Amino acid sequence: MPRVRLPITTDRLVLRSFRPGDEADVFAYRSVPDVVRYIPGEPKTREQVADMVAERATAGRVEPSQPICMLAVELDGRVVGDVLLHLDGLDGHDGRQAEIGWVFAPDVQGHGYATEAARELVRVAVEDLGVHRVWAQIDPVNTASTRICERLGMRREALFERASWFKGEWTDLTVYAIRADEWPRVRAD
Ligand SMILES: CC(C)(COP(=O)(O)OP(=O)(O)OC[C@H]1O[C@@H](n2cnc3c(N)ncnc32)[C@H](O)[C@@H]1OP(=O)(O)O)[C@@H](O)C(=O)NCCC(=O)NCCS
Repeated sequence: MPRVRLPITTDRLVLRSFRPGDEADVFAYRSVPDVVRYIPGEPKTREQVADMVAERATAGRVEPSQPICMLAVELDGRVVGDVLLHLDGLDGHDGRQAEIGWVFAPDVQGHGYATEAARELVRVAVEDLGVHRVWAQIDPVNTASTRICERLGMRREALFERASWFKGEWTDLTVYAIRADEWPRVRAD
């Protein structure tokens, strides 16, 4: 499995490995209850953020034995969010499918940064890692994330009703996906 070549530069962002010194930026958004409402886990403490920054440092190697690649998203020298690429499919993580996810600081939302970073994740997954299908799972009430998937040209494949026990309640789950054969057309749009 090829590496994700880091850093990745987009028009406005740099996607890179976490590194020492990122802790304050990451704490600023990962500690906010509203930000983590739809992602696993509680708001993070400073200690948990320090662990996360240390543990998620990556050289970009992503393969079935090391299926998760989490990247810091930098805007003008500040880490404003993080994105996740997880080699995983309904049939396990054999490297042929990838789940993607995103979290951004509230003060930078509404500018298209998350869509810009997520589009790059899809490109990397399809073009560099050669995966067959990229997918995301979203609580449909998380309309901002739903719109990201739609902007990326992902199709809504499924709605699972009250199928996820999440933060103390049964929630719906939508699955959005794009296959590698659909990507060239979407990329050209
Ligand atoms: C999900 C999340 C990343 C979405 O943030 P977001 O700011 O809405 O997404 P983007 O950065 O892609 O910005 C898109 C918005 O910016 C607008 N925008 C402004 N300038 C833009 C530009 N130059 N380019 C593109 N879009 C632009 C778009 O119109 C869009 O607004 P709309 O959705 O009201 O139409 C954010 O809400 C978040 O971090 N939530 C918490 C974590 C979370 O829920 N993660 C997902 C779990 S499944």
